[in-house]
Amino acid sequence: MRIQNMFQEDIDRKINGVVKVDQDASDVLVQELKEYVITRELKKHFITFFTNYGDSFREKTADIGVWISGFFGSGKSHFLKMLSYLLENKEVQGERTVEIFRRKFSDDPATFSLIEDAAKGRTDTILFNIDIEGSINKDKTAVLRVFAKMFYNYLGFYGENLKVAKLEQFIARKGKTEEFRRVFEEINGGTWLESRDAFAFFEDDIVATLQQVLGMSESAAQNWFNGTETVETSIAQLVLEIKEVVDAQPDDFRLLFMIDEVGQYVGGDTDLLINLQSLVEKIGSECEGKVWVVCTGQEAIDEIIKARENEFSRIQARFKTRLSLSSSSADEVIQKRILLKTPEAEQDLEQVFTVNDSVLRNLFSFSGAILDIKGYGSADEFARNFPFVPYQFILMQKVLHWRRSIFSMTQCIPSSTVPSVA
Ligand SMILES: Nc1ncnc2c1ncn2[C@@H]1O[C@H](COP(=O)(O)OP(=O)(O)OP(=O)(O)O)[C@@H](O)[C@H]1O
Ligand SMILES: [Mg+2]
Repeated sequence: MRIQNMFQEDIDRKINGVVKVDQDASDVLVQELKEYVITRELKKHFITFFTNYGDSFREKTADIGVWISGFFGSGKSHFLKMLSYLLENKEVQGERTVEIFRRKFSDDPATFSLIEDAAKGRTDTILFNIDIEGSINKDKTAVLRVFAKMFYNYLGFYGENLKVAKLEQFIARKGKTEEFRRVFEEINGGTWLESRDAFAFFEDDIVATLQQVLGMSESAAQNWFNGTETVETSIAQLVLEIKEVVDAQPDDFRLLFMIDEVGQYVGGDTDLLINLQSLVEKIGSECEGKVWVVCTGQEAIDEIIKARENEFSRIQARFKTRLSLSSSSADEVIQKRILLKTPEAEQDLEQVFTVNDSVLRNLFSFSGAILDIKGYGSADEFARNFPFVPYQFILMQKVLHWRRSIFSMTQCIPSSTVPSVA
C-alpha cells in the first residue's frame, strides 16, 4: 500500500499553518471546526473553562479573566476561535457549532453537557487580534482604546473614531438613528455607513443633518464638528457603558471580549499591563460575571510579570482561569488530524510491526538518550505515528524552538556570528 493512500483524509489538502481569529470565510471555518481535535490536555482545559464560566450563571463573580498561554504554534488562536464559535453557537454551513462538538465529545457526555449548558443563553463574543486592531501608538491607554473601539464597533457605531462613535451613541440614545441616517443620505446622496469613515470631508452635510435631526443651531453643530479636543474615555466610563448594555439583556446573556496575541502586544510594558489589569478588574467588579475577558499570549503570564512580582501581583489575581497548552498536545493533534489511518492501513501497519517487532525496536533504540527521545513502543503506536517515529515530533519542536532562540539572539548580535539554520 502506498503511504499516500493510508490516510483517512486527503493528505494533499491545504491546511493553514496559522489560525487567524478574524478569518471567517466559510470553507476555512468548516475545516477549522471539523478538524479540531480535542486532545487529552484540551479536554481538561474545556472542563476548567466551562466549569468556571458555568458557575457565573449560578453565582455572581468578579473572576472573569481567562489567560491562554502556550508556545508558538501550540494552538492558542485555534482554541480561542473554537471557544468563541461554541459560546455563540454559530451556524456554519447549516450546522450549529455545539452539534459539531457533540460528536467530538461523544465519549464524554459529562463534559459536553457543561458546554451545552453554557451555550444555551444568548452570548455575543467580540473576537479580535489586538496586534491588528490595536493602535500602533502604544501609549498608556492603548488597551483601553482598543477595547472601546471594538465595543463601539460591536454596537454598530464607528469605533475607529471615538468622536464619531460618541455622536452616533448620543443620537441612538435619543432614538434618532434611523432619522439621522435618512436625512444624511437625502442631503449627501451617499449612505451614512459608507460615508462615516471620511466624515471630515462632509462637514456641511453633517452640520445640516445635525441641525435638522437634533435641532442644533448651526454654530453648535459647527463647533462640534470643528472641536479639536480629543474625545476621552476612561475605564470607569467604558465599563459603565458595557454594563448598561448587558444589564438591558436577559440574566443569562453573556458578552466576552476574546483577544488574541495580548501577551505579545503588552509585552513587558508596565503601563499597558496596568491598563489591562485595571480594565479587567473594573469589568469584574462592575459586571458581576456577565462580561468575560479571554486573552492569549505566547509567554505564560507568570513569565511576563517575572521580574516585577510586586507591581503585578494583582493581574495574576484578575486572570483566575489560566490554561496552558503544551507540546504533547501538538503530537496528538498531528496524529489525529493528519496521520489518522484508514482501518485497512491501520491493520496492515500493525501486522508489519508484529512481524518486524525486534528489528524496529533495535533500529530506534538510542543509547544514552534522554527519556522522551524514543522509538515505537507498540504496534498501535507504530500505526498511529507512521511514517514518523515518535522522537521526530519532539526533535522538530526543539529545532523550531532553537531556531527562534537564535532568531531572537540575532536581534542583539551581528548576524555573521550566528550559524545559519535556514
Ligand atoms: N486541537 C487542534 N486540532 C486541530 N488543529 C490544531 C489544534 N491545535 C492547533 N492546531 C493547528 O496547529 C496550527 C497552529 O495553531 P495556532 O495558529 O492556533 O497556534 P498559536 O498557538 O496561535 O500560534 P502563534 O503563537 O504563532 O500565534 C494550526 O494549523 C492549527 O489549525
Ligand atoms: Mg496565534
